[in-house]
Amino acid sequence: MNKNYEEKLLKFLKLFWLRPENGLLLAFKSGIMEDIKFESPSLDLSCGDGMYMFTHLGGTFSDNFDYFKSTQAEKFSHDSFVDIYDAFDPNYSPEIISPPKSQIDYGTDWKQTLLNKAATLNIYKNLILHDNNKKLPFEDNFFKTIYSNSIYWVETIDFLIADLYRILRPDGTLVLQIMTPYHHETLDKLDNLFSKEAIDILDRQRRDSYKGLKTYDEWIKLFKKAGFKIKETRNVYPNEFILDLWNIGLRPIAHLLIQMNDALSPEKRLQIKKPWVDIFFKLFKPLLFSQESFKFEKSPYLLFILEK
Ligand SMILES: C[S@@+](CC[C@H](N)C(=O)[O-])C[C@H]1O[C@@H](n2cnc3c(N)ncnc32)[C@H](O)[C@@H]1O
Repeated sequence: MNKNYEEKLLKFLKLFWLRPENGLLLAFKSGIMEDIKFESPSLDLSCGDGMYMFTHLGGTFSDNFDYFKSTQAEKFSHDSFVDIYDAFDPNYSPEIISPPKSQIDYGTDWKQTLLNKAATLNIYKNLILHDNNKKLPFEDNFFKTIYSNSIYWVETIDFLIADLYRILRPDGTLVLQIMTPYHHETLDKLDNLFSKEAIDILDRQRRDSYKGLKTYDEWIKLFKKAGFKIKETRNVYPNEFILDLWNIGLRPIAHLLIQMNDALSPEKRLQIKKPWVDIFFKLFKPLLFSQESFKFEKSPYLLFILEK
């Protein structure tokens, strides 16, 4: 791991400070795709609120911007599940210190609130509301670069992969970051130790909602079936402990931390946020240098570079 990963860790920890374990995973996710070029026309499929891509492409927010200020955390409880980030306040306007080094031509997502947030970042030239269960709203052989880290929330993954093949140019590249069932292995291991109630609090319906998780061999079969050539595969996280941290993390109390944060004055928030981020940076930094311990077959999260 290089210096680049340290900078990324700090940036993602600042952004997602109330969920430091997310900051840690995102540093790896971004670091592993540092060399990928988004040649035009480019697409980020299921771009969400654009925070990840903005930061990955080198954008920087002011410390005054707080990602957790625009949520519906107060509606969440472990009995009535809502997506706490599916909210858009018309006053939402992240303070940007420096923009990303490049832009992406198209971003899509099925949540308008997230697209509204993404629109404030000026990173996507076009934003399109689209549900990946339906045919992609693009012509055949259109894109030179397609990226997605969110292809598995669909009913029929074969259909989506075939459709990605259709819209990719013959000289194009499809870059996918994909979970395998090993991503939630911590929870599988805890199933016997914890009560159902405790597991539900930790799981937060994740294992049920990721319908399309496949093993490495299954993903390879699916890509080949659609006609793709596999140019390269990369392991995103070096070891299991990182996933254990993420699978537990601060997720169970995130909705409460967000509400507590909402009650702070901007000055007090900054006063707490700075040492908070420093602590997690010191705690997580050594993990950036851990030895790689996964084989592709057992990897929880893979990056695939595919060609037509
Ligand atoms: C984990 S988020 C990742 C978002 C973004 N790519 C990022 O890295 O921050 C998954 C995204 O997939 C989107 N999504 C889930 N199911 C979808 C579907 N059926 N069609 C389109 N987007 C979907 C969600 O709205 C969310 O923005």
